[in-house]
Amino acid sequence: MAPGTGATTSGPGATTGEPGTAPLLEVVDLHVSADGVPILKGVDLSVGAGSVHALMGPNGSGKSTLAKVLLGDPAYQVTQGAIRFQGEDVTAWPTDVRGKAGMFLAFQDPESIAGVPVLQFLRQALSARRGEDLSVLEIRLSMMEWMEKLGMDPAFGERHLNDGFSGGEKKRNEILQMALLEPEFAVLDETDSGLDVDALRIVARGVRTVRETRPDLGVLVITHYRRILDELSPDAVHVLVDGAVVAEGGPELAARLEQEGYDPWRP
Ligand SMILES: Nc1ncnc2c1ncn2[C@@H]1O[C@H](COP(=O)(O)OP(=O)(O)OP(=O)(O)O)[C@@H](O)[C@H]1O
Ligand SMILES: [Mg+2]
Repeated sequence: MAPGTGATTSGPGATTGEPGTAPLLEVVDLHVSADGVPILKGVDLSVGAGSVHALMGPNGSGKSTLAKVLLGDPAYQVTQGAIRFQGEDVTAWPTDVRGKAGMFLAFQDPESIAGVPVLQFLRQALSARRGEDLSVLEIRLSMMEWMEKLGMDPAFGERHLNDGFSGGEKKRNEILQMALLEPEFAVLDETDSGLDVDALRIVARGVRTVRETRPDLGVLVITHYRRILDELSPDAVHVLVDGAVVAEGGPELAARLEQEGYDPWRP
């Protein structure tokens, strides 16, 4: 363990709610490989209902891998450990089942899907999450409401998903999806990257508004920068280096990283 760091498990804000109840999300000794190459080497992390946690770490440390594995990306193999969501072991659950259960990932690099308009995509995703077919009108109304909150041009609803969207437009679109899908737990993978100052505030405000309407929402914010954390006030900050959590603390840890970089924790 690096000097001056706390314990690597059960960090601050790890659990909320009744004593003895399981945290919303619990990652236990998670080891993950891609094509036989180990990427995550024993990650422990808990996020309680209603709390915001930040995950920071140098490029290539495994943050996006963790995000994708939380949502069951089949490109990765869990070789040891477990992911528990609302007390259930979801490690073997396919992505769509996790989505239906209320897990959500805003991608670092959202994919474009040519030929699929945003509205149609959201209708499918939302119908799957709710377990009932929603009408185009219903979706359009809540979509319009959220697009306005997120400063998006209503014309985006008719455009093909992420096709020709600017970097910032893609990130807003991810938050739009989060707002409409009403997840229980959301991972935001570098949603702040590539946003101008105004867009960052709008996106952060969007996340805060979603949290106001859903106070039990747990959020894991992956970021390289303190600015989004200043906006979202995380309960805990975790630092991932070379596939393992090497430090945990409060927001002051993000400030320290900005000053000192990751050298104190590099192997
Ligand atoms: N599907 C894959 N196949 C092979 N290697 C992979 C795969 N996915 C990730 N890796 C490797 O795992 C390591 C961690 O990648 P990851 O994308 O998780 O890093 P990150 O912490 O999100 O970095 P960044 O801050 O640059 O986004 C990198 O060395 C990457 O090349
Ligand atoms: Mg990444």
